[in-house]
Amino acid sequence: MIDYDLQKKMKKKLKKKRYIHSVGVMYTAMNLAMRYDYDIEKAGIAGILHDCAKEYDDDEMIKLCEKNKIEITETERKAPYLLHAKLGAYMAKHEYGIDDEEILSAITWHTTGKPEMTLLDKIIFVADYIEPSRKKTDYIDSIRKYAFTDLDKAVYTELYGTLKYVQEKDAIVDENSVLAYEYYEKMMVMD
Ligand SMILES: [Fe+2]
Ligand SMILES: [Fe+2]
Repeated sequence: MIDYDLQKKMKKKLKKKRYIHSVGVMYTAMNLAMRYDYDIEKAGIAGILHDCAKEYDDDEMIKLCEKNKIEITETERKAPYLLHAKLGAYMAKHEYGIDDEEILSAITWHTTGKPEMTLLDKIIFVADYIEPSRKKTDYIDSIRKYAFTDLDKAVYTELYGTLKYVQEKDAIVDENSVLAYEYYEKMMVMD
């Protein structure tokens, strides 16, 4: 069930800390898949691969995107690390042979989120934030709880925490995160 081959490839490719994080996301995503009746193997593949493009530096990422005709938005030009998500989905497809659109979508949106995420998008978005090796952040304890009781609430709280952090640091925020926040905020009000 677990794709040990992909796991081995990631162990070679990623720095130790990022590899440990990726394994954490893989197992957390598989647990969430059990909880929400999703395909466990697919959740594991998306989890182990989600940061497969994160070892490149900013210039390399921009170059690789341009070379492979991956669109770069204005925000991504200002904060190129965001590109590891799109580029990761591209590499999952072309280097690791993943054709499953749900897996590729979850890798694409794992950093920013977006409105109307699929179940796997949400599983990976949340697993990335709560996996066991993540440092403690303001809302992580609640998000860890919500993840297994109300996944949309976990997504909403994660977006809230991220946007708050970004505002405090005066950092760049991707427009998809803002749209996602507005979308899931409305959903929380309706509840
Ligand atoms: Fe990432
Ligand atoms: Fe990650």
